[in-house]
Amino acid sequence: MMSKAKQEAAMSALNVVPDSGAIGLGSGSTVAIFAKELGKKIGQGQVDIKVVPSSYQAYQLAIRHSIPLTNLDLNPLLSITVDGADEVDKNLNLTKGGGGALFQEKIVASASDELHIIVDESKLVDNLSTKLPIPIEVLPFSLGVVKRKIEAMSIQVKVREAKRKMGPVITDNGNFILDLKFAKPIEEPGEIATQLKMIPGVIETGLFMGMTTQVHVGTETQSYILE
Ligand code: A5P
Repeated sequence: MMSKAKQEAAMSALNVVPDSGAIGLGSGSTVAIFAKELGKKIGQGQVDIKVVPSSYQAYQLAIRHSIPLTNLDLNPLLSITVDGADEVDKNLNLTKGGGGALFQEKIVASASDELHIIVDESKLVDNLSTKLPIPIEVLPFSLGVVKRKIEAMSIQVKVREAKRKMGPVITDNGNFILDLKFAKPIEEPGEIATQLKMIPGVIETGLFMGMTTQVHVGTETQSYILE
């Protein structure tokens, strides 16, 4: 659905890829389109780029499209990362983790001078948690106590269940994902992000605060940039 819009967003981000060096490769279906196009550019010798993948999916995308791989030990500083998002608010804060990847994504984004987000227009909201819950990654050992503490903050907590496996989703890092449903859209996502992160057992949250450089928004006919 809306794949023309995703294509438009991906093509816009292709314009900010440098001629050479290491960049971060995010995750998701929009990034899959971007990776395909980046692979073509590399194959044609237009750019000399390596990527740090942010998930097993991103790793496999790089392999599939013959994109050279690197890692944060060899390249601890990346010029840009290109990634998708589930919601983008009016201050360009993000919700991520809809596909279960968020922890490595945030690390790769934090290693980058610039974070470029590629989305279709349906992802734009005034405040986060308008349409979708906020995912967090949690150490399995801590599940019970983390759940209790978050529920005490009047937030509904659901352990994300796997689709073609019984039981919980296991992340690329061997952890669980909890989806947090707030009573209403979040006015102060920075405060919530800090509070959640303070709970022992919460490894990372899907709230990406103040990290975005540009959002490349795709529509059915064109793209535009928010910054
Ligand atoms: C993966 O867990 C996410 O952070 C993705 O970046 C996000 O879900 C966007 O994915 P789509 O491009 O498939 O919507």
